[in-house]
Amino acid sequence: MHDSATAPERVRARFEERARQFDDLYEDERRLVRTLRPGLFRRRQLAVQTVEAYQAPKVLDVGCGSGRIGEFVLVAGAARYVGVDFSAPMIDLATQRLVRFQDRTQLIVNDFLTAPVEGPFDVILALGLFDYLPEPHLFTRRMFTLTASGGCVVGSFPTWSWLKGPVRKVRYEWIGNCPIFNYSRRELELMFGASGFDRVDIASPGRSGYLVRAYRT
Ligand SMILES: C[S@@+](CC[C@H](N)C(=O)[O-])C[C@H]1O[C@@H](n2cnc3c(N)ncnc32)[C@H](O)[C@@H]1O
Repeated sequence: MHDSATAPERVRARFEERARQFDDLYEDERRLVRTLRPGLFRRRQLAVQTVEAYQAPKVLDVGCGSGRIGEFVLVAGAARYVGVDFSAPMIDLATQRLVRFQDRTQLIVNDFLTAPVEGPFDVILALGLFDYLPEPHLFTRRMFTLTASGGCVVGSFPTWSWLKGPVRKVRYEWIGNCPIFNYSRRELELMFGASGFDRVDIASPGRSGYLVRAYRT
């Protein structure tokens, strides 16, 4: 990838090259993997709990990746599932994984900011996405316009930690040529509030990130 590539182009290149490698993180659910990557399973659990709290909800999954979370929320009762991701290899994996739900599923290869998506949705998932966004407020604003009254956005957000931060920085930005971003609790409150959400619940279950549910009343 050329050095003059924009941040989103570099992110897309990473997830085009490493779609299978990312998908494999879910494959091995042994204790070691759960210990090393607890965030992956925590955010999936929150997605499922949120979907279960609605009656046959319509779900939008922004940066849906290989459909690993989609599979769980469809089993949990989503009446409709729309996944958007700008990495075509990720969408290929999601298409295979979700084939048995195809009557309830739509998968779109596109940047979320320009993707032809028709709302409203009861639940919008944004898990493992905000790590890579240079202009996250554009995403929360579009998410708000697509959220049904009474609906919510479920998002995960990394925060800086001296334990993991330097290693992540070197691995992603220096070696992987992929930008990453961190968030503070205050930034999250301001961003979701300014985007129109009425209530923002922020949990900090681990050392390295936040899980957010932002509601539109
Ligand atoms: C770490 S993966 C997470 C996948 C999935 N949500 C999960 O948790 O298993 C992040 C995904 O976001 C996608 N992505 C990043 N920026 C995007 C954008 N602007 N539009 C659409 N997809 C995007 C990437 O291609 C990648 O597949």
